[in-house]
Amino acid sequence: MNEEKIGRIISPKGESEDNSLDLTLRPQKFSDYIGQDKVKNSLEITIQAAKGRGESIEHVLLYGAPGLGKTTLAHLIAREMGANVRVTTGPAIEKSGDLAAILSNLEEGDVLFIDEIHRLNKTVEEILYPAMEDYALDIILGKGPAARTVRIDLPRFTLIGATTKVSMLSAPLRDRFGHHHHLDFYENKDIAKIVERSAKILGVEIDSAAVAAIAARARRTPRVANRLLKRVRDYSAVKGDGCLSDNTCRDAFGMLEIDELGLDWVDRKILETIIDKFAGGPVGLNTIAAATGEEMETIEDVYEPYLIRLGFLDRSPRGRIATPHAYEHLGKQLKVKNEKLKI
Ligand SMILES: Nc1ncnc2c1ncn2[C@@H]1O[C@H](COP(=O)(O)OP(=O)(O)O)[C@@H](O)[C@H]1O
Ligand SMILES: [Mg+2]
Repeated sequence: MNEEKIGRIISPKGESEDNSLDLTLRPQKFSDYIGQDKVKNSLEITIQAAKGRGESIEHVLLYGAPGLGKTTLAHLIAREMGANVRVTTGPAIEKSGDLAAILSNLEEGDVLFIDEIHRLNKTVEEILYPAMEDYALDIILGKGPAARTVRIDLPRFTLIGATTKVSMLSAPLRDRFGHHHHLDFYENKDIAKIVERSAKILGVEIDSAAVAAIAARARRTPRVANRLLKRVRDYSAVKGDGCLSDNTCRDAFGMLEIDELGLDWVDRKILETIIDKFAGGPVGLNTIAAATGEEMETIEDVYEPYLIRLGFLDRSPRGRIATPHAYEHLGKQLKVKNEKLKI
């Protein structure tokens, strides 16, 4: 099994192979959207109230780690509002003219979904301020001293922004969202429900032990849960009888080198680097990146959040530290660093 491929299985980031899977399994109704009750309830109330008044809802900011359901939620909001949705991403809007074109084509009540909104460049972002606040587009005509600004009215629309890095959003942009919703990692029982739902949609026979085995390894992330389910299904179709049981899961995950907590070889390499080469840390992110051959951004976005969540890794101002739990999980001996401390 090539290593790059294993790395991608547990990655919560969407890859091209996920596109059709994401679409097939994407909840189409709020009632199919499992977990995240606080966010869901609050949004449902907002939407109902706005519909009652015949208005569109205020702009919504969704933030949280990759694969937790931000895109799904954006589409659900639009659907529930009975609105058309236009989809774009921060990096796709290169020039302010691109955004002006999108905004001026919106119709009353439309939803504009901008994914990865933290990656909008500054000049583009400034077009958004009056658009969000006053439903207006300020266009500069001419150049130099003769330049003048013309204000064009826009229809009332709802902007939904999604981001994995809310701290990278400028304060003026953040403040223009009326609703801020944080998607957290899922409860295990909710991930289990998602696995069951997806198995049903995919027409896969699965027993409760296999559901639990997949859920335990899904890093509390729906996208990872769906991807693992698909891998085990493929494995079972080739090596087993097509039904997913505890045994099939154990064999499949053994082959994929994914352990019982859902850690793969990159997670283990990160922890082993800190423990074996740097006596448990602190170690700088760039050093970990060099030692593991992964990019800093990937380590920060994909691997670390879950390791921190498990209590295996700590971030300190001086770098990353492996915790005693990490030593225990990897079966390593925790050494006392300063011998003088020993009595
Ligand atoms: N609450 C949920 N219930 C059921 N499935 C979900 C839920 N959230 C996400 N998913 C599934 O996980 C996949 C990834 O979700 P997505 O909305 O694309 O995540 P994000 O945009 O946050 O990266 C989707 O295919 C969807 O089927
Ligand atoms: Mg998304």
